[in-house]
Amino acid sequence: KSDPRLKAISDAIRVVPNFPKPGIMFQDITTLVSNHKVFKDTIDIFVDRYKDMDISVVAGVESRGFIFAPPIALAIGAKFIPLRKPGKLPGETISEAYELEYGTDCLEMHMDAVEQGERALIIDDLVATGGTLSAAIRLLERVGAKVVECACVIGVPELKGRRRLNGKPLYILVEPR
Ligand code: PRP
Ligand code: MG
Repeated sequence: KSDPRLKAISDAIRVVPNFPKPGIMFQDITTLVSNHKVFKDTIDIFVDRYKDMDISVVAGVESRGFIFAPPIALAIGAKFIPLRKPGKLPGETISEAYELEYGTDCLEMHMDAVEQGERALIIDDLVATGGTLSAAIRLLERVGAKVVECACVIGVPELKGRRRLNGKPLYILVEPR
C-alpha cells in the first residue's frame, strides 16, 4: 500500500508541455513547494527515511536540488553542501563532467567540504538519464565519502523500477506526470 501523501505530491507538480523546448514535458516543482502542506510532507518523507541512518552530509545539486536538500539536512542534523555548476565555487574544487543531449556539463564541489569516511546523501529534484546524479556520486566518492543513497522527488519509471544508480541505491517519490 502506498503512502497517501505521494498522490498529493504528484498532483502538486505542474506539467508544462514543450518547455523549455518542443517535446519536453517539464516537471515544475514550484507549484509543489508553494503548497506548504505538500512541501512539508515531501521533506518529512525524506527526513523519516534518513534521520536514523547516521548521515553527516547532505549534498544538494544546483539549482533545483538546493530547494530540497537544506531542509532535509537541518532536520536530520547533517551539514549541507552545494554541488555547483562550473565556476561558482571560490575555494579549491574538484569537478566531474556529465553528458547532456548536446555536449557536456559539469558539477563542482569544494574539496574541503567533506571528510574521508563521511556518510553522504545526495538530493536533487528529478532524475531522468541519471547523468547529473552520476557526476554527483563521483564527486563525493573522490573525496572518500560513502554515498549512502541518492534521493529525488521525481524519477522516470525505468529508474523507479531499477532503484539503483552506478550501484548506489536510488530513492524516488513519484514518477513524472
Ligand atoms: C535538471 C534536474 C536534474 C537534472 C536531471 O536540472 O533538476 O538536476 O536535470 O537530468 P539527468 O538525470 O538527465 O541528468 P538542470 O540542469 O536542467 O537545471 P536546474 O539548474 O534548473 O536544476
Ligand atoms: Mg537540476
